[in-house]
Amino acid sequence: SSQIAAGGNKLRGRVAFVTGGTRGIGAAISRSLASQGATVAAGYGRNTAQADQFLADLNETGRKDVRYSVHRGDVANADDCRRTVDEVIETHGRLDILINNAGITIDRTVLKMQDEDWDTVIGVNLSGAFYLAQAALRHMLERGTGRIVNVSSVIGETGNIGQANYAASKAGLFGLTKTLAKEAAFYLAKNDKLDPNGIGVTVNTVTPGFVATEMVEAIPEKVLARITDTIPVKRLADPQEIARVVHFLAADASSYITGQVWGVNGGLDM
Ligand code: NAI
Repeated sequence: SSQIAAGGNKLRGRVAFVTGGTRGIGAAISRSLASQGATVAAGYGRNTAQADQFLADLNETGRKDVRYSVHRGDVANADDCRRTVDEVIETHGRLDILINNAGITIDRTVLKMQDEDWDTVIGVNLSGAFYLAQAALRHMLERGTGRIVNVSSVIGETGNIGQANYAASKAGLFGLTKTLAKEAAFYLAKNDKLDPNGIGVTVNTVTPGFVATEMVEAIPEKVLARITDTIPVKRLADPQEIARVVHFLAADASSYITGQVWGVNGGLDM
């Protein structure tokens, strides 16, 4: 008979660290994980007032049997990444789920792009995910269970005018995800730490299409209308539609999925 557990979507007792977790897609992810019982630590870059507001709001409207915290840190800074992961583990005792969601855009066509535009976007979107995954993985491999979900973008699959830095950073996450997935499984097998319930340590990526958040609100209305017209389902995604997929990939239910890129794009790229 099978040793594999039923693999539910519940997250009771789990601790999740969601970078950029206090607004936009990240906030929807934080809420989604918390609603399934996870303790949620939300990271943010600079806006302490916004993060404190988000925390107050969660404490007010979220589940009362779940704990919440916010952690300030620049994901482009390796020391900040290590410190925030330590902080989360110190505050909540463990780390089961890492969601690398923090991301930025600095759009310019290649001919106009400055070195700094390139370095900054790669630093936040790609290096940040690496530093955090490295710190979190140590802890997860020790325990033999864990989930890492990297939030990439459909732009990483298709490219986009004015987004060479962003597209490269988001495509970079595919290679990072697949390598982390292989190394995690290899380590567990080699060290006889394969989880008897089959939950294990998995690493996956989601590639959202265009989602109704501040990032997309910055796009001029006419351009946005044209983009929407190219989306087969003719609308932007609600952040919750991304969060639901992230939640599945963070839960036991996704135990046989690792190293994958999951499109959540209304058919924009198939
Ligand atoms: P947003 O701009 O609303 O939120 C970004 C979050 O990242 C903020 O919470 C911010 O504090 C954090 N952040 C930015 N720089 C940081 C740094 N250096 N250190 C730590 N945290 C930092 O963005 P949105 O739209 O919620 O996007 C979230 C993720 O989803 C990003 O990775 C983005 O690239 C990706 N995405 C968004 C799409 C959209 O249509 N909005 C589509 C596809 C992917």
